[in-house]
Amino acid sequence: MTGMADENITRGTMLALSCTGCHGTNEQSPGAIPTITGKSADYLTMILKDFRAGNIFSTVMERQAKGYTDEEIQFIAEYFASTATK
Ligand code: HEC
Repeated sequence: MTGMADENITRGTMLALSCTGCHGTNEQSPGAIPTITGKSADYLTMILKDFRAGNIFSTVMERQAKGYTDEEIQFIAEYFASTATK
């Protein structure tokens, strides 16, 4: 892994703290909230941008996603993709 990627993961880890309150820190999100760890970074990036744009229905995720830039969404997506335990 390059130094650049390490730095991105660290930023992603910090940004992801605002997600884990709802989605949980373990592999399985609590209750009815969908599990996001271990999904591919491409999928997470795409769906977060769709939430942000209001392209897909959400109760809370549009508001969550609106707080992040494209770059930050990429970092967050890479973080959750990297937390897969397989
Ligand atoms: C207030 C609780 C809450 C917070 C905070 C939150 N989420 Fe969510 N998330 C939800 C709920 C509820 C859904 C289901 C869609 C909806 O109703 O908004 C969801 C859906 C998702 C999905 C779609 C999963 C799928 O495959 O359908 C992704 C990806 C996601 N959240 C990522 C994130 C990320 C990344 C963050 C942090 C930036 C975050 N969420 C913060 C509650 C939350």
